[in-house]
Amino acid sequence: MKVIVKEEAELSRLIAEEFIAQIQKKPNSVLGLATGTSPLGVYANLVKANKEGRVSFKDVKTFNLDEYIGLDGTHPQSYRYFMNVNLFDHLDIKKENTHVLKGVGDYVSYYKQYDEEIAKAGGIDLQILGIGSDGHIAFNEPGTPFDSLTHEAELAESTIVDNSRLFNDISEVPTRAVTMGLKSIMNAKKIVLIATGVNKAKAIKNLLHGNKTEDNPCSILIDHPDCTIYVDKEAYSLSK
Ligand code: GLP
Repeated sequence: MKVIVKEEAELSRLIAEEFIAQIQKKPNSVLGLATGTSPLGVYANLVKANKEGRVSFKDVKTFNLDEYIGLDGTHPQSYRYFMNVNLFDHLDIKKENTHVLKGVGDYVSYYKQYDEEIAKAGGIDLQILGIGSDGHIAFNEPGTPFDSLTHEAELAESTIVDNSRLFNDISEVPTRAVTMGLKSIMNAKKIVLIATGVNKAKAIKNLLHGNKTEDNPCSILIDHPDCTIYVDKEAYSLSK
């Protein structure tokens, strides 16, 4: 695992350049995308590069990591809504090429085919990840089996508390989600993880210096052949 320590704006710029290089090399790339605050700077850089004509998303396919169960894609806190507003609506991407797990309706049959859909598209070329303060990636909380594919998950109490900042009240935060599994994520050819701020310092320390164990879901990344961790000084502060 490679580690890059820079200020947040520079981390976002560097990761966006990874995505741009990937799409320039392979215009029909398959991208794995994440929600949360962490990738927002990356997405802003991608929108800018697309507007400037540096990169086109017209043949790109995307697969998102996760979605809350119970939230429709028009709900402002749903991950489909987040992706539309923060990225897809501003790119020359075809909406039908953007895949986000469903949280309502027949979400079960959709998630059960998700890994197959990814494989049919050729597999994920480049996956971006954030990280939860408890070491979760996507919604794979501590205790999730390393060989998990896309599945339904119960959110940890600490995740509900962390994510409540985006809702009017903690009681509105869904307690369940559908999420790509740890094995689904490890299938990506290349992975970049971004973490900033002191709230992530313990999770990054456990990732860089801890043991590989299902109690620390992100530790599976240790075995990935092409994974880079992008952190700012604060997130890296317990790892030096
Ligand atoms: C949620 C998402 C994760 C994300 C995490 C961190 O739980 N399911 O994919 O990595 O939040 O979010 P943030 O980047 O806002 O700290």
